[in-house]
Amino acid sequence: MNKKYRIAVLISGGGTNLQALIDATTRGEISNGEIVVVISSNPEAKGLERAKMAGIPSRVPKGLCDSREYRENLMHLLLEARPDLVVLAGYLKILDKEVVDAFWGRIINIHPSLLPKHGGKGCYGLKVHEKVLESGDTVTGATIHYVTEGVDQGEIILQHQIGVEKTDTPESLASRVLELEHRLMVEGVKKVLMEMDGRSGKWEDC
Ligand code: GRF
Repeated sequence: MNKKYRIAVLISGGGTNLQALIDATTRGEISNGEIVVVISSNPEAKGLERAKMAGIPSRVPKGLCDSREYRENLMHLLLEARPDLVVLAGYLKILDKEVVDAFWGRIINIHPSLLPKHGGKGCYGLKVHEKVLESGDTVTGATIHYVTEGVDQGEIILQHQIGVEKTDTPESLASRVLELEHRLMVEGVKKVLMEMDGRSGKWEDC
């Protein structure tokens, strides 16, 4: 019987990338992975409702976000979930070294730009799209990459790009890139799980 990889999804907000993964596992597009827990840095995150609707257990680490208590509790919740893969889907906190080391090579993140452009500390949400427009880029997109200690610096797994329209505002760009992210999120997880299976994970085999 094919192994079902255990996936922990970390969120901070709306959770539309989480929803894309929930839908892909439900319809069997991701056939060798199951979301075993959703962990949110924000107790008010709309994504927690999505987890509840899908019957997936959810947790919010105790303590203030950047506190030692929060970091220790997050590590405890992750170890408890025993994930094969940790997915940062709109998770806006920087993981600390202990977590990155404990799950080395098994943590991936989605970022709404064509990394290495417009990434790094402070580059998230609308700020990313403001920078794209300020820099006059004609294309933008989204990136799935492995998480390392350097923010948004890990090995790139997959990228998709779209054109920047003359009429684009940071908001219009953010919503068009978010649509792209949902597809990329699913393809990125499929690719990584296939590689865990020892299969090529080549895009065309996805
Ligand atoms: C996405 O653009 C993601 O790349 C960024 O936060 C946004 C939130 O998306 N990190 P979601 O609806 O919470 O998945």
